[in-house]
Amino acid sequence: MLTAAVHRFVARRTFYSAPVARSDHVFLHRNTPENNTSIKFEFNAEFAPKAAEIIAKYPSQYKKAAVIPLLDLGQRQNGFTSISVMNHVAKLLEMPPMRVYEVATFYTMFNREPVGKYFLQICTTTPCQLCNSTSIVETVEKHLGIKLGQTTDDKLFTLVEVECAGACSNAPVMAVNDDYYEDLTPETTIKILQDLKAGRIPSKLGPQSSRLTSEPITGLTTLTTEPTGPGFGLQKALQ
Ligand code: FES
Repeated sequence: MLTAAVHRFVARRTFYSAPVARSDHVFLHRNTPENNTSIKFEFNAEFAPKAAEIIAKYPSQYKKAAVIPLLDLGQRQNGFTSISVMNHVAKLLEMPPMRVYEVATFYTMFNREPVGKYFLQICTTTPCQLCNSTSIVETVEKHLGIKLGQTTDDKLFTLVEVECAGACSNAPVMAVNDDYYEDLTPETTIKILQDLKAGRIPSKLGPQSSRLTSEPITGLTTLTTEPTGPGFGLQKALQ
């Protein structure tokens, strides 16, 4: 028999459920004018030899292992990983198309919808967020007039946020296609966007601060003296 107090507790109990985690892209393919199976795709004269070279690296019975590099090649030629790119890769590797779709939908590096000429990926994971990646996102959104996940009307820029880009020591970080821009500030970010808009690849890649690669921002703290030579610390007899 439940007491009144327990009844009250049961009646008031609320259930919490976390929001359903969703990717910002649907996993279903839906035909669109720019992405449907009637648009033919094959590797062209520039990319076909590269595809053949990649496939040749694997024993013929294991050539499906080339699926990721071939999808990457297809994306580079086509601009995005369309259904026709996936189907062509499946045909080349003699794989069921579904197996290729599974790979392409698992890895976020494959864009299954068209993106702008410059694909901007801003890292907003903890180290970058602590170094104010929020201000970088806001700066790009304001400067380009788009929000995360959107493309500018001139099809030049697509903006997305990504998980750790693997350059945390140089946070905050933004990738533009294959290039990384690091140690960003709102000012340096705008300069990069202006260069890209003008058709120039910014001459300074990597850290936009004064430091070299990921050396300490406050100056070197180790290896500041000439390294000791062979035999250092050994007793005299062994030197
Ligand atoms: S957290 Fe941004 S690069 Fe690692």
